[in-house]
Amino acid sequence: MDVYSIIPILQKIPLFCNLSESSHKEIIDRIIMEYYPANAIIFLEGEQGVKLYIIKSGLLKVFKHEQDREIELTILGQNEFFGEMALISDEPRNASVRTLEESEIFTLNKNDFLQLTSIDQNIAGIINDEFIRRVKANQKFMI
Ligand code: CMP
Repeated sequence: MDVYSIIPILQKIPLFCNLSESSHKEIIDRIIMEYYPANAIIFLEGEQGVKLYIIKSGLLKVFKHEQDREIELTILGQNEFFGEMALISDEPRNASVRTLEESEIFTLNKNDFLQLTSIDQNIAGIINDEFIRRVKANQKFMI
């Protein structure tokens, strides 16, 4: 995929849509596209966080393990992101993520992600708002 075919995709992703074309090009230099079949584990709760994931296409389930049960936290789809919490908090992954169908996912490594949030207030705001929303949503699963 060349730069000019990825820019329209980034323009549809809320996290990136307000960036200039030059920022899009910088991101494109840093993102890696990963392909997963259905039912693939992206990462498990408790693992160290090394990158951010942005869904280009597909559907994924975010879940926690409780004994032998899976507790579904949410389903994520096109243009949504995940994996930001461990990168921001330096805590382990707080949930596991698995594909429900074939998925194409952009990934951005931790350093590039943190750099992006430090220079772009709009992205930092979107990430922070979502972080807080997710922490609150997960409180109801904690006893
Ligand atoms: P992280 O803790 O790095 O790894 C698990 C990810 O699942 C987490 O970051 C969030 O991106 C995502 N996640 C956790 N809880 C929720 C939730 N309630 N809604 C949406 N995404 C979530």
